[in-house]
Amino acid sequence: MIKQAIIPLAGLGTRMLPLTSVMAKELMPINGRPNLEYILDECLDAGVKEFILIISKNKLSIKKYFFNDAFYKKIIKKKKDKRIIEEYKKIKKYRKMIKFVYQNKPRGTGDAVLKCQRFIKSKFFLMLLPDDLIIKKNCSKEMIRLHKITKGSIIATKRIKRQTVSRWGILSFKNKKKTYFQIKDVIEKPSIKKAPSNFAIIGRYILTSKIFGEIKKLKPGHGGEIHITDAIKNLIYNDNKFYGNIFKGKYLDCGTLSGYMDSCAQIYKGKK
Ligand code: G1P
Repeated sequence: MIKQAIIPLAGLGTRMLPLTSVMAKELMPINGRPNLEYILDECLDAGVKEFILIISKNKLSIKKYFFNDAFYKKIIKKKKDKRIIEEYKKIKKYRKMIKFVYQNKPRGTGDAVLKCQRFIKSKFFLMLLPDDLIIKKNCSKEMIRLHKITKGSIIATKRIKRQTVSRWGILSFKNKKKTYFQIKDVIEKPSIKKAPSNFAIIGRYILTSKIFGEIKKLKPGHGGEIHITDAIKNLIYNDNKFYGNIFKGKYLDCGTLSGYMDSCAQIYKGKK
């Protein structure tokens, strides 16, 4: 059973500057709600019971968003506004399920995952990258279903345009079925020439707890960071099964300003 989800939130958000010099990009609103809540709701709907949010001392606003009781109580007492009362209830529901872990130096996703080791209770857990929204079909739910069938680790994947391979982790595969395949290898941000396919990693992973041991063995890679993709690669080479889940939902890239604006427009349109 997959009951825990980890969400790395300590990134600097340089692709969204100057906004991210004063605010966490994960709190930027989409149709009136922080981006992060869409990710939490996807997990809740998929049966997750606990969130481990990896923040940094520069991202304390994320913690404050969930733990601002004195402020809310004062306002609610004065105003008795129904909308605010409802929103506060929702925040209290989320925060019962949240633990915070700190990654004060941006040393990569692998390093962020390692910081969660002491909290992970079972053999498999979910990881979601908050830049990647998937709407219309619950991707985490699909991945949990595939994990139940294969008993292996799962990575969300989607076909992307060949010209853009160098922006993603790219998968090579075998035994391809309609909605999934077994992963043979993974290469982070390859050139067009070196890309083994145009199936890209999108930020949803069901990882085995064996990943922690692999991360510890890694040396910093590209940009001086510890990359989760390198640990995954080594696990695959050591006969651990990883599967690509070709998800059905619609992918929205919230990690760049133009992507964020497009996500806002698409989600708003969907609500109308
Ligand atoms: C990360 C992963 C990459 C994946 C991408 C999806 O890259 O390292 O493999 O394809 O997320 O958004 P980043 O966006 O941090 O550069």
